Amino acid sequence: MVQTVLVVDFGGQYNQLIARRVREANVYCELVSFEKIREKIAETDPIGLVFTGGPASFNEPGAPRIDADILDMGIPVLGICYGCQLIAGTLGGAVGNGPREYGRRTLDVTERGSKLFAGVAEKSACWMSHTVYIEKLPRGFVTSATTETCPVAAMENADKKLYGVQFHPEVMHTEEGFKILKNFLYEVCGATGEWTMSGYVERTVAELKAKIGGKKALCALSGGVDSAVAAALVHRACPDLVCIFVDHGLLRKGEAEEVVRVFRDGQGMDLIAVDAGERFLKKLEGVTEPERKRKIIGEEFIRVFEAEAKKIGKVDYLVQGTIYPDVIESGLDHSATIKSHHNVGGLPDVVDFKELVEPLRLLFKDEVRRLGFELGLPEAIVMRQPFPGPGLAIRIIGDITADKLEILRDADFILRDEIAKNRLDREIWQYFAALTDIRTVGVMGDERTYDYTVMIRAVTSADGMTADWARIPYDVLQNISDRIVNEVKHVNRVAYDITSKPPATIELE
Ligand code: XMP
Repeated sequence: MVQTVLVVDFGGQYNQLIARRVREANVYCELVSFEKIREKIAETDPIGLVFTGGPASFNEPGAPRIDADILDMGIPVLGICYGCQLIAGTLGGAVGNGPREYGRRTLDVTERGSKLFAGVAEKSACWMSHTVYIEKLPRGFVTSATTETCPVAAMENADKKLYGVQFHPEVMHTEEGFKILKNFLYEVCGATGEWTMSGYVERTVAELKAKIGGKKALCALSGGVDSAVAAALVHRACPDLVCIFVDHGLLRKGEAEEVVRVFRDGQGMDLIAVDAGERFLKKLEGVTEPERKRKIIGEEFIRVFEAEAKKIGKVDYLVQGTIYPDVIESGLDHSATIKSHHNVGGLPDVVDFKELVEPLRLLFKDEVRRLGFELGLPEAIVMRQPFPGPGLAIRIIGDITADKLEILRDADFILRDEIAKNRLDREIWQYFAALTDIRTVGVMGDERTYDYTVMIRAVTSADGMTADWARIPYDVLQNISDRIVNEVKHVNRVAYDITSKPPATIELE
């Protein structure tokens, strides 16, 4: 069993980020609800606990609490923000209201011998976000860092391996944050850095071999990162894996060919590629309403997959590219449906299989990408930006035709080319062209034109939940616009979408 740290969730906004940072430090961790803390400790025998921040205030009724004996099990604990106040309050310290402290502060390390601050500069910038303060330390604790406005910016009881920080070590703005987190993991918890992608491949392939062995496994490839990496990983353990790739004809230029090239030729997989473009176009004829498009594509996708899967017959295992944020969110997500997202999630009902295999279930997206490289997948697949299941259908406003698809593919290709040439691809989260249903008058040569407007969308984001429009330099926009109107027939105008999310969404439909 891999050394495990439990990141105990008290509802703070940076919880997944803390877990990602721990993993980045090569230590495996799981995010668990504070309500499950006791059973998860019994189940995983953790080397340490990290208590996250949270929106509650320790003294208010209903604030999440833990039993004091959790802090007396000999397991090292690092409490962050609310987690720090929780340790103080639970062990008999006092927590009280103070002036709101939000943003950058200078952290002064006062306890130079502290393991938590080993090698950390005496003064550095840290990020604060709290209104509640530790007024009195619990017995056995000392203050190990302060800021001008926060008398207990960090506290510790080194004998009991209990540490608390009022600031957020997980965010970028805390200069020494990652070092502090690593100190906790390595100096206090005794981590040995077992969590690496090569180790993960080795362990998972061995497990999958033992489990799947010579049995039959099936995977739906979408061309996206997750299903690609899941398939490549399972393929290592099970060379007889069969992959079905449904090409709905709504992919970007060259994408379908790339999937076939990479998986059939490159990875040597048994790949069934179904060219269903015409079938989808027929179903979508005259459909303009975004949700209807999504529903039709989702259902049709399932039907095509089902027909192919039936030819294969009963399989033992169905491989899916579920990743850790999906797992976390399906446990916490009560938010309203804004768009009905279509993924391959509906498949289990239509495939005759014994068991689901989800080899990425424990991985964050950045880990999935690292794993993809480890498995020898090309950058074009591994670094692929998010692409919606319904594909270009929701990037064409109004009805979808083969001609419009071609216009959009060509315009999008130029955009991608220019972004890559200008090395903006790593800083922009997602960028694409959309075809509006607006036609306007233009003039080309001496001739009047009456053609389409292409809209460019490019956003920066951390997770797709909120986004800002990317500040692409004007001269790059100029090139993109020039090339599109010159190289793509039936386009005479290019617009740049400068709306953030919210209030807009990233996709246009
Ligand atoms: P929106 O448009 O909702 O998009 O701001 C947020 C992120 O989700 C992607 N997206 C989808 N992904 N199936 C998917 O797998 C979908 O139906 C879908 N719709 C939007 C979008 O590209 C962005 O990254």
